[in-house]
Amino acid sequence: MNERETLRVNERGHLEIGGADCVELAKQFGTPLYVFDEAHIRTMMRVFRDTLEEEYDGNGLVLYASKAFSCKAIYRIAAQEGIGVDVVSGGELYTALCADFPAARICMHGNNKLPAELAEALENGVGRIVIDSFLEADRLEEEAARRGVVQTVLIRINPGVEAHTHAYVQTATPDSKFGFSIYDGSAEEITRAVLSKPHLRLVGYHCHIGSQIFEKQSFVLAVQKNLAFLAEMKKKLGFEARELNLGGGFGVWYTDADPKLRPADYRGYLSALIAAVKKGCAELGLNLPFLMLEPGRSIVGEAGITLYTVGAIKEIRGLRKYVAVDGGMFDDPRYCLYQSKYTAILANRADEAPTERVSVAGKCCESGDLIGVDMNLPSARAGDLLAVFTTGAYNYSMASNYNRNLIPPAVLVKEGKADYIVAPQSYEDLVRNDVLPKSLR
Ligand code: LLP
Repeated sequence: MNERETLRVNERGHLEIGGADCVELAKQFGTPLYVFDEAHIRTMMRVFRDTLEEEYDGNGLVLYASKAFSCKAIYRIAAQEGIGVDVVSGGELYTALCADFPAARICMHGNNKLPAELAEALENGVGRIVIDSFLEADRLEEEAARRGVVQTVLIRINPGVEAHTHAYVQTATPDSKFGFSIYDGSAEEITRAVLSKPHLRLVGYHCHIGSQIFEKQSFVLAVQKNLAFLAEMKKKLGFEARELNLGGGFGVWYTDADPKLRPADYRGYLSALIAAVKKGCAELGLNLPFLMLEPGRSIVGEAGITLYTVGAIKEIRGLRKYVAVDGGMFDDPRYCLYQSKYTAILANRADEAPTERVSVAGKCCESGDLIGVDMNLPSARAGDLLAVFTTGAYNYSMASNYNRNLIPPAVLVKEGKADYIVAPQSYEDLVRNDVLPKSLR
């Protein structure tokens, strides 16, 4: 197995996360279960925060991209670590506010923010809103004027950088629903439009080139292109951006095809980025902007695992063995969406070497409902506990009640002790919003 600080195999041959025995966790909380190691999350937040502090004089802010994993507890942790968050919906904003997250440190994104979401952002004093359409700029100006406030905004630009990652999570290719292209004149046009709006205070630009990226060069290229655009706007419009938000996208380990970065290694990514900002600004005669970064996956991805109980096992001789678990695409749709790969072990037999290659299937009524294909495991039996690694990001946050399965609860482990951060759903929760109209009663 892949060693990391969060995980280890204990003397009983069981997997431990954050000092808690996974077999005990399964007994206490049942399965399927999302488990998060609090220490890992905090370590990652600190790596980003401290690097900005030390290598950029603290002239910036780390915003945890909460779409990766959103619940009250994670906003509370982010608040305690002194970082900001990004939210992309009224629901994420509401959750953050429920956890008393300081609104000034919230940055709101979205390619089609609803009028109600914009109103909620203004109502609650969200620090920054990233404008992603002409319509939104008009709506926001109107709403801010109506309230007699001036809203700080950035503009999402698309620097046209192709990152080496899955097409669905690339966001800065020319054909993207996000952002204003810096090449077709639209980024300049929106800049002029926003500058002319008295209730919008334009402070800078935002870009996000994609997710699960390991090439430092992609980030550096994005910085160079962004800065060139900033310089162009300064020259043409006399507008010098004071803030630059470079988005997230730092990759994590899922399988041994990915680099295994230790928390401190992420510092290298930031250093490269910061160096590129300093160099670019010096060359272009720009003042160093207030720098923001939006890591999501790298903060929570490897901090989380999912525990499942093995059930039915089906062997199709000469073809494939399916090991079915009590979860599936309702708690982790990433294989279905992106053919994502994971590493798994049997948590109750964690000291055993893999002996076979199997497909891990979910329990949904759909052939494509898999957690993964060709996963290496010891020969599994019904009742074994399967641990899938690196499920902290975009698993719970993309879960659904498909087939009316219950979304698993999540627990946070701290110094070996676990507590719920997301309570279990019940069947009553499933029917809570169902309505039988009079005609069907
Ligand atoms: N900022 C913006 C504007 C974003 O759109 C995203 C991710 C992030 C930051 C955080 O990126 P990260 O550091 O997590 O890579 N559901 C997909 C990932 C979608 C990412 C969407 N945007 C998955 O499961 O892989």
